[in-house]
Amino acid sequence: MKNIIPETFLWGGAIAANQCEGAYLEGNKGLSPVDILPGGTLRREALSDVKKAMEKDYGYYPSHESIDFYHRYKEDIKLFKEMGFKCLRTSISWARIFPNGDDDLPNEEGLKFYDDLFNELIANDIEPVVTINHFDTPLELTKNYGGWKNPKLIDFYVNYCRVIFNRYKGKVKYWMTFNEINMILHIPSFGGGLVFEEGENINQVKYQGAHHQLVASALATKIGHEIDPENKIGCMLAAGTVYPYTCNPEDILEAQARNRENYFFIDVQAKGKYPSYATRMFEEMNITIDITEEEKKILAENTVDYVAFSYYSSRLRSADKEIMKQKKVGNAFASLPNPYLKESEWGWTIDPVGLRITMNELYDRYNKPLFIVENGLGAVDKVEEDGSINDDYRIEYLKLHIEQMKEGIKDGVDLMGYTPWGCIDLVSASTGQMSKRYGFIYVDKDDEGNGTLERSKKKSFDWYKKVISSNGEEL
Ligand code: BG6
Repeated sequence: MKNIIPETFLWGGAIAANQCEGAYLEGNKGLSPVDILPGGTLRREALSDVKKAMEKDYGYYPSHESIDFYHRYKEDIKLFKEMGFKCLRTSISWARIFPNGDDDLPNEEGLKFYDDLFNELIANDIEPVVTINHFDTPLELTKNYGGWKNPKLIDFYVNYCRVIFNRYKGKVKYWMTFNEINMILHIPSFGGGLVFEEGENINQVKYQGAHHQLVASALATKIGHEIDPENKIGCMLAAGTVYPYTCNPEDILEAQARNRENYFFIDVQAKGKYPSYATRMFEEMNITIDITEEEKKILAENTVDYVAFSYYSSRLRSADKEIMKQKKVGNAFASLPNPYLKESEWGWTIDPVGLRITMNELYDRYNKPLFIVENGLGAVDKVEEDGSINDDYRIEYLKLHIEQMKEGIKDGVDLMGYTPWGCIDLVSASTGQMSKRYGFIYVDKDDEGNGTLERSKKKSFDWYKKVISSNGEEL
């Protein structure tokens, strides 16, 4: 039988500036939200109260050096090339281009860095896939404007987009406007640079911030297409279908509502208007969104070219508050443990079939090409005496997910590519740990910042190389 995966399929890996570059002040870069976050148990506290975090000295900050991709990207790209990557998903740090977010002129050193990075990728036949904002709204915009709750951020973001679309025209074709745009509801400080004032209706602030991002995303899509009609501009969802806990209709309704909470964003970005269910949803939260006729037009006329998503796990919800008390901690989404499924060392449900379900749901709903831009297993790796790292658990996780991805394609889903997360070990977004590793490439660094930063290949490196060279036939 003919291979189900097209020859043009974008096999690769995914990373993000804020979790791998380091060099946090080099080349005139301004601060990113991640630069004031500690690792370990204090990270959650800092994420939930950015105002406090901005004033506190936590000592060690994992992002400041990170894995030093800023200086070592050539060495890393060589290894990506050796694995046969067709693409690399990474992000541009907005604060490298506009250190304060609202500067009149862009920072040439920042622009030059990404010129060099994209040139290096292209020289190695690796297509850059670029996220414009991956949890990376310049911190100064939070300090001076309150983050995305302020409509001025739309103009700053659009200006930033115009600069990078012009500068990287002909080099970058695949773009995503916001990483995991629905995360503004779950980690508002990280996703939206939001700070809350005493007595504010938090939902009002989150959804108004979300609205500004949605308009900014549509405007970016518009100018991206104007600057280069070859550009493909996508949205990006933290996906993973929410299952009902039982067949009790109340549970089904609850799961439907939670799914809509996520799809809401993509409904706007892919269909061009607020979904009909939003009216009641907002009424029940006692919120009113300021939305102009002009904005409605912008949303309607500038829908995305493709729908990208991350998939790590499915979720489980009950309508019963007592049952929901058993929900797991450790994940941004509140979810019950699923008795049919295993969990990762960090308590994330492992559900390969859920990937197929999610693919089908998204494709049924949007009918646009999909792109799996994150998937993977965060796990502790052990370096053996001889230096080898036998990460069979990671191979197993990815193998089961790729099998289901192929089933999804057989179901009829138009899938552009697959870029597993953290193809080289990097700093975890939720915990700030290095020990929560996702990579095919090991980076010698621990949670306290010790290590040589030396790179070495794990067992999964050769495995993934074979997967790519056989176009997904040999798993
Ligand atoms: C996604 C993010 O939520 O999941 C990444 O887009 C993040 O930035 C990834 O790193 C894995 O999460 P974590 O918390 O294990 O790093």
